[in-house]
Amino acid sequence: MRIDVVSIFPEYLAPLDLSLVGKARQRGQLDVRVHELREFTHDVHRTVDDTPYGGGPGMVMKPQPWAEALDAVVASGDGGVPTLVVPTPSGRPFTQELAQQLAAEPWLAFAPARYEGIDRRVIEDAAERMPVIEVSIGDYVLAGGEVAVLVIVEAVARLLPGVLGNAESHQDDSFAPGRMADLLEGPVYTKPAEWRGREVPDVLLSGNHQKIARWRREQAFARTLRNRPDLVARWRREDMDKHDLKA
Ligand code: ADE
Repeated sequence: MRIDVVSIFPEYLAPLDLSLVGKARQRGQLDVRVHELREFTHDVHRTVDDTPYGGGPGMVMKPQPWAEALDAVVASGDGGVPTLVVPTPSGRPFTQELAQQLAAEPWLAFAPARYEGIDRRVIEDAAERMPVIEVSIGDYVLAGGEVAVLVIVEAVARLLPGVLGNAESHQDDSFAPGRMADLLEGPVYTKPAEWRGREVPDVLLSGNHQKIARWRREQAFARTLRNRPDLVARWRREDMDKHDLKA
């Protein structure tokens, strides 16, 4: 997969060199290219923002540098276009399902904004040439979209074939559509079996895989009830039966 990110703070994207995403890049599974938005300005001050029409606080990102940056990204491809992901608190919620959809794309471009956002016409203009999706990573406002890019890229990268060691290890993820939909993962333990007087639950040492699976499901249900009652409201009878937790 190819990923382009245009930002006024390319340094903010440095974590893309590390850990899982960094390793995927080294292995050639991910081709990540970070571009500096100010390279696409033409004035001595390298201006990327201006005051908002209609008044109000803050500044708005100017259309010209963004349009030229996105044009350059598209021109550097081999004739295709990327799916443009615009992180914004006004976007549609980022979910595991959306991460899976994005993981199926060959090419993503990210346009993280600073200030009050990007002039709307940039998004409209881009949408005439490529798929555009505005995405929010949660109901809070960050100082800019770069951290949202890190979140989205990490969630997408670990779904790419061969990136995680164990091919099955994301099927049990909390929120994964399918088997564990709307269910949080339960607690996990490792050695030693006793630590600071606390013991690992007996069932996990029992070797009885059926019992262990049932205990894990019970823990997942309990945790979801406690932490995410909104998810519980989406549970359906059929799913409960599927999870073998009939009353
Ligand atoms: N930019 C600022 N806040 C954001 C959020 N919650 N999600 C995505 N991009 C953002």
